[in-house]
Amino acid sequence: MASDISHIVKVHQKEFETYISYSSIQERTREIAARINEDYAGRSPLFIGVLNGVFMFAADLMKGIELPSEISFIKLSSYKDTSSSGNILELIGLKENLKDIDIIIIEDIIDTGETISHVVKKIQSLGPRSVEIATLLLKPEIFNKSIPLKYVGFKIPHKFVIGYGLDYNGLGRNLKDIYQIKEPLDH
Ligand code: IMP
Ligand code: MG
Repeated sequence: MASDISHIVKVHQKEFETYISYSSIQERTREIAARINEDYAGRSPLFIGVLNGVFMFAADLMKGIELPSEISFIKLSSYKDTSSSGNILELIGLKENLKDIDIIIIEDIIDTGETISHVVKKIQSLGPRSVEIATLLLKPEIFNKSIPLKYVGFKIPHKFVIGYGLDYNGLGRNLKDIYQIKEPLDH
């Protein structure tokens, strides 16, 4: 998966090393797009990207989609509920009318699955015909939800990654390849 030449980048005092090259990402993304084209032949799915992290993957995935399809983006904002101690997740930018539409949610990464399960629940409540998920990355060791993930780019270990849209405290989204956190060697 890693590119031939390993690069190290430093973000907020932490070191990251090349993990998935942009050419591998492109190749896998083209395969996923081809599968979607096949699975949805004759239909017009609405793609919904979950910002911010998904902007690069969504752009590359859509270049391979040959279906008459729209794309829209949503954002999750977390705010404190003053009447309880919990955090409320609100979806911003969701179209009201999803009735009888085939939806493909695009995500950059699924970790515990908390975020995606919240997004799926909200979208399901608007009565679409179908909902599927396309995620570039999945951390299967910690994903603990029963939601089916139809299109998965790469299954990766439980290690923090940045680049290609993914950030570490706001930085690293602009990196072309995906980088993995460099752990100090065990002794
Ligand atoms: P989940 O709700 O636990 O599935 O977490 C999903 C969200 O956590 C993603 O949309 C990212 O914003 C963030 N996230 C999880 N793992 C990583 C990572 O390795 N790098 C960057 N962001 C991550
Ligand atoms: Mg995300």
